Amino acid sequence: MLLSHLLHLEGIASVVLERRSREALEKTVRAGVLEHGTAELLKEVGVGERMEREGSVHSGIELRFGGRGHRIDFADLTDGLSITIYGQQEVVKDLIQARLETDGQILFEAEAASLHDLDTVSPRVHFQNDGEEEEISCDFVAGCDGFFGVCRDGIPENARTEYERTYPFAWFGILVEGPPSTEELIYTLHDRGFSLVSTRNPEIQRLYFQCDPADKVENWPDERIWDELSTRLATHDGWELADGNIFQKDIVQMRSFVCEPMQYGKLFLAGDAAHIVPPTGAKGMNLAVADIQVLAHALAEFYRSGDTGLLDAYSETCLHRVWRAQRFSWWMTSMLHRFDRSDPFQLKVQQAELGYVTSSRAAATTIAENYVGAALG
Ligand code: PHB
Repeated sequence: MLLSHLLHLEGIASVVLERRSREALEKTVRAGVLEHGTAELLKEVGVGERMEREGSVHSGIELRFGGRGHRIDFADLTDGLSITIYGQQEVVKDLIQARLETDGQILFEAEAASLHDLDTVSPRVHFQNDGEEEEISCDFVAGCDGFFGVCRDGIPENARTEYERTYPFAWFGILVEGPPSTEELIYTLHDRGFSLVSTRNPEIQRLYFQCDPADKVENWPDERIWDELSTRLATHDGWELADGNIFQKDIVQMRSFVCEPMQYGKLFLAGDAAHIVPPTGAKGMNLAVADIQVLAHALAEFYRSGDTGLLDAYSETCLHRVWRAQRFSWWMTSMLHRFDRSDPFQLKVQQAELGYVTSSRAAATTIAENYVGAALG
C-alpha cells in the first residue's frame, strides 16, 4: 500500500493485490510503534495528518527489573528523537484512503497464487479474484505478502539462503478497554518472565507477557492474566496496574528470520516476506517501511533514467538495516526473557546487563539510538 502510494507520487502505475478484505485489514490490531524516520516519512509523503493528530509521541521507555523502573530518555540520548505510537492498521487505513482518492488500483480479497517469468522483461502474477484465476503481467513484482505468502518461493531454492532462529517462548497479548497505567512503554524482566505494557490510545491498552509457545488462550481466564501481570510488574514503591475489560487475547510466536538475497530477476521482496524479527525491538513494521522506501526510490530512478544500479543494489542496501535490526531485536529479546527458569545464573547476568544499560550513558545510548531507528543506517 505504501509502495503504491510512493510510486503514484512519482507518476508510476501499480496494482495492489490484497489477500484480505478492506474491513478486516482496517480492524485487525497489529504493531504500534513508529520509529522517528517512519513517522517523518509518512508526514513527508502526505499521509501523516491523522497520525499527527491522533498518535502520541513518546520520548522514552521504561526498563523495569528487580522491582524498580529505569527510564531510557530517547530525546536526551539521541538529540531530540522520539517514537510515535500509532497502530499499523491506522497507517494502513490512511494509505488505503490516499490511494483510493487518487484512483489507485487496490484489489481486495485477491490472493496471489503463483509468480511466473520473473527473469524475463514481462513477469506475470496469477491470483484469485472472486473465485476466478486471473493474471497480471507487469514490469516488476513487489513481494509484500508476508512470511506465509507465495512470493519468497519465487526465488529458486538454490539461489537463496535462509537464516533462522526460534525462541523457546511466545508472547501472550491482550487488548484492554480501559485507562493507561503508564505514559511510556514498560519492558519488564521478572523471574517469572518478560512482560510489556504498551498502549494504542487513551482508551485502548495493549499488554503482553512471556508464555509457553504451546500454551492456549483458553488456559488464561481474565483473573489469571491480571494476577500474572501484576506479579511480574510489581515494584517496591507499590506501582499499580490499571485494569479494564479484556476484549482480545492472542498468542504471538517469536522468531528471527532473514532470506538472502531479497530479490530475483524482476521480483523484490519487502517486509515479512523477506524477514521476521521478534517483537521485542518494535521493528517489524519499521523494517517493512524502510524496504519500501529503498524500492520506491530505485524504481523511480529506473523509470527516470533507465539505470538499474539502485535496483541491482536493492537487496544489499536493505540487508544492512535488516541485520542491524535483527541484532537489536535478538539482543533485547535475550536480555528481557527467561530462557530457562531453572537457570538462576542467566537471570543474574540479565539483571547485571539491565543494570549496566540503565546506568551507563554510553550503554543507554545504544538502546535509544536503535529503538528510535537512528543507529540502523
Ligand atoms: C505493541 O504496542 O503492540 C508493541 C509495542 C512494543 C513492542 C512490541 C509491541 O516492542
